[in-house]
Amino acid sequence: MRTNEELLEIAKSVSKNAYCKYSNFPVGACVLYESGNVYSGCNVENSSFGLSLCAERNAISTAIASGEKSQLLKIAVYSPKSKKCFPCGACRQWIQEFNNAQNIDIILENDDNSCITYKINDILPYSFELNMI
Ligand code: THU
Repeated sequence: MRTNEELLEIAKSVSKNAYCKYSNFPVGACVLYESGNVYSGCNVENSSFGLSLCAERNAISTAIASGEKSQLLKIAVYSPKSKKCFPCGACRQWIQEFNNAQNIDIILENDDNSCITYKINDILPYSFELNMI
């Protein structure tokens, strides 16, 4: 199983592949599953700005498309342009979709370059669930 530092290193590495010609804000993400498998993704922008894809959603989509069926445990997010590059609101909801009762770890780069971990339930409280009566 990869360490948090290794996951952040993978996120850092994939951020170099970002297609971010409009914002010039590269982001990389790396997801770790209970199987031990990891997948990564970067942001991919579009001239129609609202169609841009975040690194976190790219990484999760890659895992799903690869057939990953185990529990999502951790996601590391990195940008060379920002310490503590928190997932945006849309990505928080995407992470929540795969949370189950896990309370997924969000691993970021702290001001001193070490890893800092947050919990999805803390950064997205009272999230939407499709519970119909
Ligand atoms: N971005 C991400 O990749 N993840 C986030 O959680 C927030 C923002 C990207 C989208 C866009 O390409 C760039 O960062 C600037 O907003």
